[in-house]
Amino acid sequence: MEIKEEMQQRIAKIEQALQSYLPKQEAFPPVIFEAMRYSLFAGGKRLRPILVLAACEAVGGQENEAMPFACALEMIHTYSLIHDDLPAMDNDDYRRGRLTSHKVYGEDMAILAGDGLLHHAMETMAAACYANPSQKSTGAMLAIARGAGINGMLTGQVVDVYMEGKPLDAQTLEFIHLHKTAAMIRGALEAGATVGGADAETIQKFGLAGEKIGMAFQILDDILDVTGTEEELGKPIHSDEKNEKTTYVTLYGITQSKEIAARLTEEACQIWDEMGESCRFLHALTAYLLQRTY
Ligand code: IPE
Ligand code: IPE
Ligand code: MG
Ligand code: MG
Ligand code: MG
Repeated sequence: MEIKEEMQQRIAKIEQALQSYLPKQEAFPPVIFEAMRYSLFAGGKRLRPILVLAACEAVGGQENEAMPFACALEMIHTYSLIHDDLPAMDNDDYRRGRLTSHKVYGEDMAILAGDGLLHHAMETMAAACYANPSQKSTGAMLAIARGAGINGMLTGQVVDVYMEGKPLDAQTLEFIHLHKTAAMIRGALEAGATVGGADAETIQKFGLAGEKIGMAFQILDDILDVTGTEEELGKPIHSDEKNEKTTYVTLYGITQSKEIAARLTEEACQIWDEMGESCRFLHALTAYLLQRTY
């Protein structure tokens, strides 16, 4: 089966599960549930939940046990996008091919919709842990909370906005990308391997591969902000330049940035190779991400 087809199959399951976890739009007060659903069901590549499910599968775990964690991670990711687009942050008007949340619902509701998705992610994971108490499930929740939290995505976003318009060295830029993006992708693979019952050494390998995939993913995002199209990306291009952000493109240029992303991808693929046939899909997905145009 082609990689795109395999991804599509997983996306279909994830969409269905997300629908089942989200409160219906008729709930009161409707505006918040509508706003949460508006951003969550606007498309999106669903990369992080795919990685949770793929890691769980690779270590021989059960998909239904991984699903709440996969969906929770996508809720957290979507919250991070809603807040990232706010006027106080990147001030962008389009996301996932639609007007951004604050453009439709106002800044107050966009902030609350983001918060709503974050809280609902925690509730979804806690409910899964409560229903099926085990170190596997609490470990998965821990990996996701760490990836998103003050030693993960949140801190990356803090340094990202704090350093706007200021000179920035390679080490600080690596710190930003490792935290704002790679930490959640690392968390996805760790959570999937953990809920799937992997041992500590294996979980660590998944985490390391995730860090490399995440770094390459954000470097590609920096490149696509310059070379991509708004139609394909579903979000504005030249957002980084507008906000005077130092990126891999401004620091290294496009050619060298692509080389760095290719090297990271190769290193991640080596980890999948070492782990063998069970990581075949993860290997194909990792290689595919380097070629992405959106
Ligand atoms: C966008 O993530 C934010 C970054 C970390 C670069 P994605 O490119 O995965 O966005 P969606 O989920 O497909 O919309
Ligand atoms: C954002 O990085 C990473 C997040 C944690 C949301 P960017 O600001 O570069 O992401 P895009 O380009 O807006 O998707
Ligand atoms: Mg940003
Ligand atoms: Mg942004
Ligand atoms: Mg970007």
